[in-house]
Amino acid sequence: MSGAVTVRVPAKVNVRLAVGGVRPDGFHDLANVFLAVSLFDEVTATAADALTVTCEGPDAHKVPLDRTNLVARAAEALAARSGLDPAVHLHIAKRIPVAGGMAGGSADGAAALLACDALWGLDTPRAELLGICAELGSDVPFSLTGGAALGTGRGELLTPLDAGTFHWVFAVADGGLSTPAVYRAFDRLAAAAGTEVPAPAASPELLAALASGDPDALAATLANDLQPAALSLRPRLAAVLAAGTGAGALAGMVSGSGPTTAFLVRDAEAAAKVAAGLDASGTCRATHVASGPAPGATVLPG
Ligand code: C5P
Repeated sequence: MSGAVTVRVPAKVNVRLAVGGVRPDGFHDLANVFLAVSLFDEVTATAADALTVTCEGPDAHKVPLDRTNLVARAAEALAARSGLDPAVHLHIAKRIPVAGGMAGGSADGAAALLACDALWGLDTPRAELLGICAELGSDVPFSLTGGAALGTGRGELLTPLDAGTFHWVFAVADGGLSTPAVYRAFDRLAAAAGTEVPAPAASPELLAALASGDPDALAATLANDLQPAALSLRPRLAAVLAAGTGAGALAGMVSGSGPTTAFLVRDAEAAAKVAAGLDASGTCRATHVASGPAPGATVLPG
């Protein structure tokens, strides 16, 4: 098959990120309540002589263009499974913050997998695509499915959830945070506390609030166990959180492993006001307004 295939893929926010103890494989057990939001990257796959990656967007210079990029690893994994040569050019149009805790790299991996599957006419069963996603990274399966879901295991075992519509403002920080470094900080804080880390769980109250679409109820139950760890590595994020809630957000928290911060707001009008307040505060580099749930990775009409 020739031509080009473009896939649009959403960012995510974790409305509850419950982190348990370290497993023998070095990962942490999670109860990770994912919500896909309407901030999208696009990945275009085009037939080429060799596997190449390019990227456009304000943060493009921060994106690795070699075989470590999840788009390249996705193409290689799918090609290997199908006995093909991964001769494809993958172009990333990047809007999701890089190394920001919004699963931007994972999103691109899921998008590349779907784009190559369509470009190569493979029609790989969904369950197999999800299996490849899980090998690529803990958040990649959710980027494929989108919507709202509970991720257990290391986050890759998904159960779909009902969710009403919620409005968000995301504040992008200068510089990224390394996800492994944030998990190591979580382990250090847990060891210093000297108490056993409880098994991770998402409360029935949180799941009910998510399903209801009531922003006040969700604001009362949002929580991210990685937030103290991210704040320990980047203390100035506390000022961003204060600026967002000061500007009228119902709740604010670090998104995933950070350093992007996520603010839940009542509606689209409040989102614009909170974004303006954050922009004026000088505590962050940029803001994005988005809502969720958003659909997962989707092939765009050619
Ligand atoms: O799965 P992924 O490659 O996205 O994970 C990146 C890093 O985040 C892992 O190498 C690990 O340090 C940490 N991690 C973890 N427990 C999880 C998910 C990620 O410790 N459940």
